[in-house]
Amino acid sequence: MAWNAAAYDTRHGYIWKHGVGVVELLAPQPGERILDLGCGTGHLTAQIAALGAHVVGIDNDPGMIALARQHYPALRFEVADGSSFRRDETFDAVFSNAAIHWMRDPAGVVASVYGVLRPGGRFVAEFGGKGNVAAITSAVYAAMRPYHPAPESLNPWYFPSVGEYAALLEGHGFEVTLAMLFDRPTYIEGGETGLGSWLGVFAKDFLAAVPLEAHAAIVADVEERLRPTLLHDGAWVADYRRLRIVAHKSPG
Ligand code: BEZ
Repeated sequence: MAWNAAAYDTRHGYIWKHGVGVVELLAPQPGERILDLGCGTGHLTAQIAALGAHVVGIDNDPGMIALARQHYPALRFEVADGSSFRRDETFDAVFSNAAIHWMRDPAGVVASVYGVLRPGGRFVAEFGGKGNVAAITSAVYAAMRPYHPAPESLNPWYFPSVGEYAALLEGHGFEVTLAMLFDRPTYIEGGETGLGSWLGVFAKDFLAAVPLEAHAAIVADVEERLRPTLLHDGAWVADYRRLRIVAHKSPG
């Protein structure tokens, strides 16, 4: 999906801000070589670099990479597909925050990560896990149904369970040392209009399948369905659930 990189950067800054805890889990050491997979506009890449690591950020969206380079001209950013990237160099760690749920070939992602790690290297990632935005998704399906016969078929997201993702990692040769799924209710910026803006960015694949004239009615319907549970004191709180993992490539 093509992103509006500027909107992502300004209105949805909470995405990378929540990733600060994942950087702490990564615990980059000075001099380590680290790949930031799905780096977006580069803010966490820069935090990793500030801790003394040599970091390369990759993202499949040229707009994101352009903005990342603009923000941090001294850092390395490249456009690359998360499911099929290869590198001549190897890395001590691959880091990823809030990106893997957009990648449609999870086995390709894990194989690519494994391929670029040095023996003993680590993979530290957080993304949407099983049940992520379940209430929002149900409301979107219901609001879309008058306009589309099978809204479920439009769902672009990959939100695996702990068991599913750990099995995928082990099947590719990783040893999984941490895998946890947890609720992380997430405040959406923008007050009462925030959910509409969120849908315009995150649920773009659903809305793109119906005529533009239907979008406002669908968004209004989703808001009505979710108002009783997700609107708190004039602010939307999305029902995020995160899957956090640490996995190691065998020392060889
Ligand atoms: C998330 O970051 O949890 C998310 C990503 C895509 C769609 C919905 C939620």
